[in-house]
Amino acid sequence: MTSPTLFSPLTIGDLNLPNRTVLAPLTRCRASEGSVPNPMMADYYVQRASAGLMITEGAQIAPEGQGYPATPGIYSDEQVAGWRLVTDAVHRAGGRIFLQLWHVGRVSHPSFQPGGTLPVAPSAIAPEGEVATYEGMKPYVAPRALETDELPGIVALYRKAAQNAKDAGFDGVEVHGANGYLLDQFLRDGTNRRTDAYGGSIENRARLPLEVLEAVLSIWPSRRVGVRLSPSGTINSMSDSDPAAHFGYFVEKLNAYDLAYVHIVEPMEADIRHGGPNIPGGSFRPIYTGTLMLCGEYDGARADAAVQGGAADLVAFGRPFIANPDLPRRLQENAPLNTPDPTTFYGGDEHGYLDYPALEEAPA
Ligand SMILES: Cc1cc2nc3c(=O)[nH]c(=O)nc-3n(C[C@H](O)[C@H](O)[C@H](O)COP(=O)(O)O)c2cc1C
Repeated sequence: MTSPTLFSPLTIGDLNLPNRTVLAPLTRCRASEGSVPNPMMADYYVQRASAGLMITEGAQIAPEGQGYPATPGIYSDEQVAGWRLVTDAVHRAGGRIFLQLWHVGRVSHPSFQPGGTLPVAPSAIAPEGEVATYEGMKPYVAPRALETDELPGIVALYRKAAQNAKDAGFDGVEVHGANGYLLDQFLRDGTNRRTDAYGGSIENRARLPLEVLEAVLSIWPSRRVGVRLSPSGTINSMSDSDPAAHFGYFVEKLNAYDLAYVHIVEPMEADIRHGGPNIPGGSFRPIYTGTLMLCGEYDGARADAAVQGGAADLVAFGRPFIANPDLPRRLQENAPLNTPDPTTFYGGDEHGYLDYPALEEAPA
């Protein structure tokens, strides 16, 4: 049997992906008032529907899960109706799309919180730096540590959001366990100093993320649910005393759930520069028995080599897919790539969002 390439199809349960190039989850801060997805967002995803699979930008599961201006939610009827525009348009265009379920935890600010209260987290430890609010940059505040008896309420928010994603017509959901947000804050001992059953050992720190996953799996078939993790990530002031062992434990636990995929963010150049750990995504291959997606600073050649060499089944692209709506075709044809413009990543209008050109159609 010849090994697959980046351009080979992949079947996950009853989901048929025509290629292995995935649109990584990308926050673009262009939702309408009330965190409602809009027709401009539908156009953006339709432009990228040739991806084997698209994962949406993070969608907050509740108002208190928001940490950036104009990010979409998945908790109100208006948001579900807005996402329905997106999923219908993507399906008409022949695409497949999972929603990323997001709660930022401490990476927020009272101005995003209902009633102006403190953001919540496993422990009352502030991230370093500043948060972008509707009133400009503000220092992070120390969050309020969640009480043990509040945690079932967090799990229930994820369950409801998973149901809303189903009602909105998505093909599946990705649980955001990466990049320093709430579930990552529970997993890592730099941010989780709890002394109850949800802190201390890695078994305890994994408890809330696994309860969330099981709640999502009470709504969706397992092959329609992915989990994203960033074992080497330092963004949002993240640290852990032994990330290789702790994430190894967690990923091994995920084998039991027969998921659509596990999605690992690779060590990024900036993480390494900040002295972060260097745990290659492929090192989870011997640990995880299911479909493995890798992401982070891939180009076409490296992605194809990862798939052909067996390190990855799927490769997600972030910035290259922002700038190249027809990325799978460009990679396959080895065509030149447009350069992404970071000044239009977060917020704004159609510029830097809908106006990156696709390749011309080949002459008939
Ligand atoms: C503008 C921007 C927004 C992002 N938003 C999210 C997000 O909502 N959820 C998430 O898990 N990762 C997010 N990421 C991380 C990307 O999914 C990806 O891991 C990262 O960009 C590395 O991949 P790349 O080198 O191909 O861009 C974001 C990255 C960028 C540049």
